This record gives sequence, C-alpha cells and structure tokens, in this order.
Amino acid sequence: MTDHVSTVAVLGPGGVGGLLAALLARAGHRVVCLASEDTAKTLRTDGIRVRSGQFGDFTAAVEADTELREPVDACLVTVKHTALDTALDRIAPAALGDGLLIPLLNGVDHPALLRARYGADRVAPAVIRVESTRTAPGVVQHGSPFTEIDLTGASAPRDRLDALARALTAAGVSTRVLADEAAALWAKLLFLAPLALMTTHYAEPIGEIRTRHRDELAALVAETAAVSAACGGPSDPAAALARYETFPAQAKSSMQRDAEAGRALELDAIGGALLRAAARHDIPVPIATRLVRALS
Ligand SMILES: NC(=O)c1ccc[n+]([C@@H]2O[C@H](COP(=O)([O-])OP(=O)(O)OC[C@H]3O[C@@H](n4cnc5c(N)ncnc54)[C@H](OP(=O)(O)O)[C@@H]3O)[C@@H](O)[C@H]2O)c1
Repeated sequence: MTDHVSTVAVLGPGGVGGLLAALLARAGHRVVCLASEDTAKTLRTDGIRVRSGQFGDFTAAVEADTELREPVDACLVTVKHTALDTALDRIAPAALGDGLLIPLLNGVDHPALLRARYGADRVAPAVIRVESTRTAPGVVQHGSPFTEIDLTGASAPRDRLDALARALTAAGVSTRVLADEAAALWAKLLFLAPLALMTTHYAEPIGEIRTRHRDELAALVAETAAVSAACGGPSDPAAALARYETFPAQAKSSMQRDAEAGRALELDAIGGALLRAAARHDIPVPIATRLVRALS
C-alpha cells in the first residue's frame, strides 16, 4: 500500500471501525465499509459522523457495500467477536486478493480462525487502545484522549505493515509495528480480562472494583498473568494493577456496558479464551472460572 492513497476496507464500521474509517477517509484514503444493507445505505448517504475531543467533530464520506467485491490493500476487521463468523461471509478469500486482514478485536483466539480461512500470511492481528462508541449507524462518539494501535504479524510482509502504520499515524492514530504477536495480544488481555470480568460481574465501575474488591482483583490479575506468561505474554501483575489506577473512578468496561444494554457479551473471546489457555497449560484459575461461569 502506498503511504498517501490506498484502499482500505472496514468490516464492521462501529465504535472502532467507524472511527478508523472516518480518519483514514479524512486523510485522503479510499475507504470501503462492509456492513449490513441498512447500515451501508446510511453510510453512503450520510457518511460517518465523528464527535471526538482528540480529533474534533467531522463528517467523512466513505463508500459502503454489503460485501467485498475488489482487492484492497488492507481490510480492518472491527466487528465484535460475537458477530465475527457471520460477518466474515462478506469477505470471500478470493475477493481479498493479496490484501492484508487486520483484526482489531479483543481476545487471542480469532487470529487462528482467520488464518485457517484466509491463509497465515494474509492476517496481521492488531491491538487498539481507544474508547469509541457507535451511538447509531454511522455515528461515532470517541471519548478517549488517545487512539493507539499496535500492529503485529510475524508472517505478514513487514514493509506492508510499516506502510499501513505510517498511513494510520498520518491519519492521527499512533501506530507501532511490534514483532511479537502473542506478547501484544496477551498484554491487552492481561489488562482487559480481569477488568471486564469484575466490573461486569459486580455491575460496579472500576473505582469500586479497585477499592472494595481489591484483593479479589489482585488475585484475578495474578491468575491471568500466570496464563499470559505461559502463552508468551507479559507476566507482571503489578503493571496491570497500576494501570487500573489511571482510570477515572466511574469508568466502565465495554463488557459491562454491553451487559447494561442487554447486548451479547464478548465473554467467550475474553473470559473463555483465558480459561482455555489456562487449561492448555495446566494453570489453576479458580476466580476466573467462577466469574465466567456466573456470567455465562
Ligand atoms: N469500542 C472500543 O472503544 C473498543 C476499544 C478496544 C477494543 N475494542 C474491540 O473492538 C471490537 C469492536 O468493538 P466495537 O466497540 O467497535 O463494536 P461495535 O461498536 O458494536 O461495532 C461493531 C460493528 O460491527 C457491525 N456488524 C455486526 N455484525 C455485522 C455483520 N454481520 N456484517 C457487517 N457488520 C456487522 C455493527 O454494525 P451495525 O452498525 O450495522 O450494527 C457495528 O457497526 C471488539 O472486539 C471490542 O472488544 C473496542
């Protein structure tokens, strides 16, 4: 992909995908959003409207379709895990050509599913740090003062990842290319899984969790860190615990917000993946097991 004008598809233009699609389109790239018929129609008519403290309020014109019909330089996969299988029907492997598939989902199990379907060298998993919400089709409320992506993918061509990182960074998204995929994905899960499971189970914001439930949180982080270390991720529970302190007391996890709204939870992708990895490595995770069962 060139640094200035490339074609990027976005499967699932919601909180994450809508923001990235709008930023890339605003930066001059050709963006094709892949969505349901209704959402695609809205996007074609109204574009994507972003409200953001970091990027300002703006509307970006994008193309939209219900399936990928031409090769692209990169396709960002930004559906939730619960919708992944169905949504992938919109991307036939032959239509992707030699385009790179960049999943930005939370979790650690989806890269294997994508590689089985599209080929190992087509898939470069990424991690995004952002808080962005789709409030209506084509309408995105971006709340975090930062938007950061770590691209990974040992089997994807490095020069193409570097070009995509430059394009995203120029569009406003601080993007790095990291060599170690497992380390990047587990770093996110080590931070996210305890936070998501605890806030959702207790239906309390992070301030309550890190004070009233501190011992349980610390023990759950320690369990998760042991699994992370066994899977090639970071092993330091103190770093995750310290990061929770940086959040406002009223902050909620996205799993908690999904539960409050009655939406399907990414429980299997986050808690289920943690339990499966623990079982593979014979690591006891009693707190995670209890919380996942209670939320199931
Ligand atoms: N939001 C965040 O701040 C954030 C931060 C870090 C990581 N993540 C992760 O990023 C991933 C995406 O989360 P999100 O919050 O962006 O989700 P989201 O706002 O719910 O967006 C998902 C999008 O997928 C679309 N979709 C659902 N089924 C589809 C299908 N079959 N075909 C095409 N599109 C379909 C939805 O379309 P409609 O608009 O038509 O309903 C929606 O626009 C998750 O794994 C999440 O954990 C999110």
